[in-house]
Amino acid sequence: MKVIGVLTSGGDSPGMNAAIRALTRAALDNNFKVIGFLKGFKGVLDNEYIELNDRSVSGIIERGGTILQSSREPRFFDFNYRQIAYSNLNNLNIDTLVIIGGNGSFNAAYKIFKESNIKVIGITGTIDNDIYPTEYTLGYDTALNTAKDAIDKIRDTAYSFERVFIVEVMGRDYGQLPLEVALSTGSEIVLVPEFRIDLEKIAQKIHTFKQKGKKHVIIVLSEGYSNAFEFYNQLNPILKKYNDYELKVSVLGHIQRGGSPTARDRLFGTLSAYKAIDAILKQQNGYYVGLINNKYDLIPLEEAINNKKTINKDLIRFLEEIAV
Ligand code: F6P
Repeated sequence: MKVIGVLTSGGDSPGMNAAIRALTRAALDNNFKVIGFLKGFKGVLDNEYIELNDRSVSGIIERGGTILQSSREPRFFDFNYRQIAYSNLNNLNIDTLVIIGGNGSFNAAYKIFKESNIKVIGITGTIDNDIYPTEYTLGYDTALNTAKDAIDKIRDTAYSFERVFIVEVMGRDYGQLPLEVALSTGSEIVLVPEFRIDLEKIAQKIHTFKQKGKKHVIIVLSEGYSNAFEFYNQLNPILKKYNDYELKVSVLGHIQRGGSPTARDRLFGTLSAYKAIDAILKQQNGYYVGLINNKYDLIPLEEAINNKKTINKDLIRFLEEIAV
């Protein structure tokens, strides 16, 4: 009987459980044995795993996080530790290891593909949507909606006190999540790592909003642009010159990573698993499941690790055009 291994690694994302569930059940249906490694690559290195069956993955499609737990395992980037991992995987007769994670996890997956006899297939799992060239990554929609809900609430209080809020949003050094959060909440200013704006210009813009009668201003700040409190310390003295609004900070933080996955993420996790099983049955190796032209496709891991995704900067200008 062939054995499939599965693990979740790096930042967890809503929908990972849907992918584990679908992958496990489809694999069992195709007469594979399924081993779930615990805490990502840590489980591979330390031989911590469980055998998954139909029942161990029931009641999880609606749960955020990952039942297999996750970690960022620095030991895996040491060649000598990787030899231990390969030997552990071979002792368990793992034919294919399915790695659910983001760019860091795909880097590790590529090393396994290059250095060992174990086949690897990736499933995207990151709220950052920063893996090249897929149009979508698992968990993004839930994170976007969580941030949208939070900012809708912040706007209520911002209006009541006529305040400017800096809202720090995750996404690392890729600006798509903050940009789409800003566009879907009608925020007035977005600051992403790919497009820096002079502080004086930001202050003048806010002053113009006041003159136009705006009751509040929301600045969506990418964590990759600046830490929100440092940004506050830079902007506040300049804003004070105009004495228009009071400035406040809200860091959304890890609430963006949790929560029950949206229908889109449950579906994306499930259908990514469908494509992954198909790839395993066809003995494919060194690919990840992504979305290209709205179709599920197998993409070489090499493409993901050698390229960086870019945002559409025109949308920043468009946001400015409509935030009047
Ligand atoms: O990659 C997902 C992500 O949530 C990023 O948006 C964020 O920068 C990072 O992980 C936070 O990582 P940690 O949970 O290790 O602090």
